[in-house]
Amino acid sequence: MAYSCTLLLVCLILKVNQISIVAAAAAQGTERNPCGMDDWMEMKDRIYDLISSFPDAHRWPARLLQAGFHDCFVSGCDGSIAFELDRQENIRIDITVHFLKMVIDSTCVSLADALKLGMELSMELTGGPPLLCPLGTSDTTRAGPKGELPHETQNSTVIMNLFRRKGFTDEETLAGNYAGHSIGRFGAGAFAFTPTEDVYDNTFAKYCMNGNKSETQFHALPSDMKLAKDDANGIVAEFGRNMAKLDAAYASFMTKLCAM
Ligand code: HEM
Repeated sequence: MAYSCTLLLVCLILKVNQISIVAAAAAQGTERNPCGMDDWMEMKDRIYDLISSFPDAHRWPARLLQAGFHDCFVSGCDGSIAFELDRQENIRIDITVHFLKMVIDSTCVSLADALKLGMELSMELTGGPPLLCPLGTSDTTRAGPKGELPHETQNSTVIMNLFRRKGFTDEETLAGNYAGHSIGRFGAGAFAFTPTEDVYDNTFAKYCMNGNKSETQFHALPSDMKLAKDDANGIVAEFGRNMAKLDAAYASFMTKLCAM
């Protein structure tokens, strides 16, 4: 119910804003193609203004980050997620993709670029390392291959290999996972990964290393617990001790991700 209310509110707000974009473009009599830095910056501001006005504004940085990850990791950052929304791993990502599609409507900005701008914004709003994604990507017209994204029930070897095949080092992969899950929720939004769900930090890495869920108020996926337990090189433990290490590896992960 809360979910459909949010979507309805998104639609109403966007409808109003969409009309003003079209009116502004018509008044200027301009062709807004090809897209340039001004358009992208304007779009980023616009996404920020809109999500800030939603009653569940604090949930949007996590939604934007997860949507960007799911778009880029499958077949590169190409907007293919718009054709993959019926897949189990994307069941709760449709709200984010529909939102971005409505915001970019009648502008020159591609969905792929809007998703990248969303990731940049997410990092800024949650205190993550600065991120600048390459922009100017066109959208694909078809879905990417199935089975490219990791699943929370897979074992550590399968998950690490998935990321290695895409060019990520083990340090980057673990940073992506423990930093990415230091914000946000799972299970239809019922469970926050950490009590500080809106802020990026290394508490999730610490929690998963300690391994005793009953001691702290946090919720990890099976894959979060397995990756920490099977980390023979002590990378996750180091992230828990040293925030600067996590910052550097997370910046490297995100930079690679949004250039895929
Ligand atoms: C081992 C790899 C990963 C697995 C198996 C995994 C799986 C999942 C699952 C199952 C959820 C809960 C979805 C739901 O119930 O709505 C989730 C949430 C999330 N994931 Fe991951 N994930 C992985 C890596 C990443 C990475 C690399 C990032 C980004 C850097 C990321 C960002 C997020 C975020 C932000 C959420 C919360 C979304 C929200 O609050 O709406 N994940 N992930």
